[in-house]
Amino acid sequence: MRQLPLNVLESGMVLAETVYSSGGMVLLTAGTVLTDELIDKLRDKNVFVVDINDENTIDLDPDDVLINRVRTEALQVLGHFLPADVVGKRLGEAAERHGVVLEVLEKIVRDRKVADLYLDLRTADDNTLEHSVTVCVLSIIMGSVLKMEQERLLMLGTGAMVHDIGKKSVPQEILDKREDLTDEEVNLYRNHIRKGYQILREKSFDVSVARVALYHHERWDGSGYNKMAGEEIDLSSRIVAIADTYDDLTRGLTYKQKYLPHEALEILYGAGNIYFDARAVKAFTGNICAYPLGSIVKLSTGETGIVVNVQKTLAPRPIVKIFYDRDNVRLDYPKQIDLSVEKTTFITKIL
Ligand SMILES: [Fe+2]
Repeated sequence: MRQLPLNVLESGMVLAETVYSSGGMVLLTAGTVLTDELIDKLRDKNVFVVDINDENTIDLDPDDVLINRVRTEALQVLGHFLPADVVGKRLGEAAERHGVVLEVLEKIVRDRKVADLYLDLRTADDNTLEHSVTVCVLSIIMGSVLKMEQERLLMLGTGAMVHDIGKKSVPQEILDKREDLTDEEVNLYRNHIRKGYQILREKSFDVSVARVALYHHERWDGSGYNKMAGEEIDLSSRIVAIADTYDDLTRGLTYKQKYLPHEALEILYGAGNIYFDARAVKAFTGNICAYPLGSIVKLSTGETGIVVNVQKTLAPRPIVKIFYDRDNVRLDYPKQIDLSVEKTTFITKIL
């Protein structure tokens, strides 16, 4: 597989990896034979490089494969939570923020020092790499809303990507255990923060990056692992704590119960000024798209519909176009419901 810039592509070449738009939409799938028209299409969509199949796959480097996987996943996560094409008055703002986040993300994902840790994150436990990518994207979004400078965003995103690297030193049976941990196991688990800090410093990551590994379990009220409180905790760690918790809540990993996006957002909102920095929570809950356009959802009324508009409130209460009634019978005339107005109706499931 070779990564080639657009200007050297020729028709007849075969794509080795699926190509996504900056918004995370699939443009062309892996295995597509390129034609001049398709190359023009990629140019129109501002794609700069693609992965091409060639015979010399013997040279495949696992780091490169992982970089491509992480990048693809990061773009999807970004497209999900911060689509560049949110309709309505937020369009300019959303597109601009999307661009800033994308730029920072690309730098982090391709950073060799970070990529060297992908394999460790992948093996730490099955979910850690995926979790890290999501936490990274969400943290950069929050940082950009809070107007952090590029350089600080880079440090924040890098810290977020590697925040759980210390988990590779936690015994597998503890990571896998679904029952309550014993005190000793809790200590071993909690030690992943110190181990992470140590690994990152040994690999000469900036101290502000390593600090995120050490402090992402701090809580605003001082109830976290190191009992630091309020602004004593650096902003990056405060941000990563929120992204980390959101992803855990919605994946149902640590909290045993899996929450829907709007439920997780409500939990975080309620925890502002208690467990989390309220300003960062607001930057998060008010600026991510929890139910992107096109999500198919089941409502508390039993009806099923598609999210068609997220312009008023990006996050928890979109407009849904209902196609099926409570008995799953397709409606002759789909109807729209604005969940920000109909407050007693809510989403109960993402299908
Ligand atoms: Fe952690």
